[in-house]
Amino acid sequence: MLERLTELEDKALAELEQAAGQADLKAWKVKYLGRSAELATITAGLRDLSKEERPAVGRRANEVKNALEKAYEAHFESLRAETLDRSLREERLDVTLPGRSVSHGRVHPANQTLRQIYAIWAEMGFQIYLSREVESDEYNFTLLNMPEYHPARDMWDTFHTTEPGVLLRTHTSPGQIHVMRERAPEPIRVILPGMCYRYEQITARSEIQFNQVEGLAVGRHITFADLKGTLNAFARRMFGQEVRTRFRAAHFPFTEPSAEMDIECFICGGEGCQVCKRTGWLEILGCGMVHPIVLHNGGYDPQVFSGFAFGMGTERITMLKYGIEDIRYFWGNDLRFLEQF
Ligand code: DAH
Repeated sequence: MLERLTELEDKALAELEQAAGQADLKAWKVKYLGRSAELATITAGLRDLSKEERPAVGRRANEVKNALEKAYEAHFESLRAETLDRSLREERLDVTLPGRSVSHGRVHPANQTLRQIYAIWAEMGFQIYLSREVESDEYNFTLLNMPEYHPARDMWDTFHTTEPGVLLRTHTSPGQIHVMRERAPEPIRVILPGMCYRYEQITARSEIQFNQVEGLAVGRHITFADLKGTLNAFARRMFGQEVRTRFRAAHFPFTEPSAEMDIECFICGGEGCQVCKRTGWLEILGCGMVHPIVLHNGGYDPQVFSGFAFGMGTERITMLKYGIEDIRYFWGNDLRFLEQF
């Protein structure tokens, strides 16, 4: 029996040496120190031994048990230390290494201009009204004082859809009718920003889609002086306090009288350069007093109400501001262009 215990001890210790991980170790413990291990069976069988044999075997069994437990603890500790050591070695971070910088997206230049325009008009008490991009022929033309076959319709090359009378708006002006019909007879002060579409040859100066910001004020005593004063205030906020403006007579079917507003060329200071085509002035918007027929179509009595309106191209203003010479950059998605803003 004593020999058997020594054999058992040797075998157990040899096997323990081979245990390479927590799982091995656990299995070993069950096998040699568990409740149905051979060692436990021997201990339980002590009482069947003769009086002479019992003390020696008992003592020896205890020794083996203690030795195995101690060996187990030691092995367990060294495995743990080794695991910790390895993870410290393999997962080490050099916190002094410079980080990778995150590249930032940015707001598209046309949207930057739009936001600036919103802020200026908001400051002057104008709300933003979002009107639809898919329009009817009626709103885009007829209600704006351009009946069918009216030659002025040719000013806007139009994308028609396969649905008769449905088109992509060529300007933001049809939004005027929508707001008026919604608000009449309340006074109105809104801007109407959004995308417009024109069936045109794409060149450095013209795109088939672009943003406009329309403006509309309707009330009981609105005059051309209000139009000029308000647009001058806008120009000073947008282009600087010193900017000079002028209004030139023009024609739009939906306003009477109509005008175009120029600002003094800020590239040459009015001397004449390539950008202003040697005139010293840059055209930035169309405007006028809302035509009585348009007021009427919007549900306002032109005998009682009057109003002014204007429309400007966001990309055009952005091009003037930054000296961008080709409108195609706005849809080119070229980061070398976009990252400059
Ligand atoms: N809708 C015109 C265009 O697209 C711009 C315009 C001119 C709008 C005069 C207006 C206005 O509201 O009064 O060319």
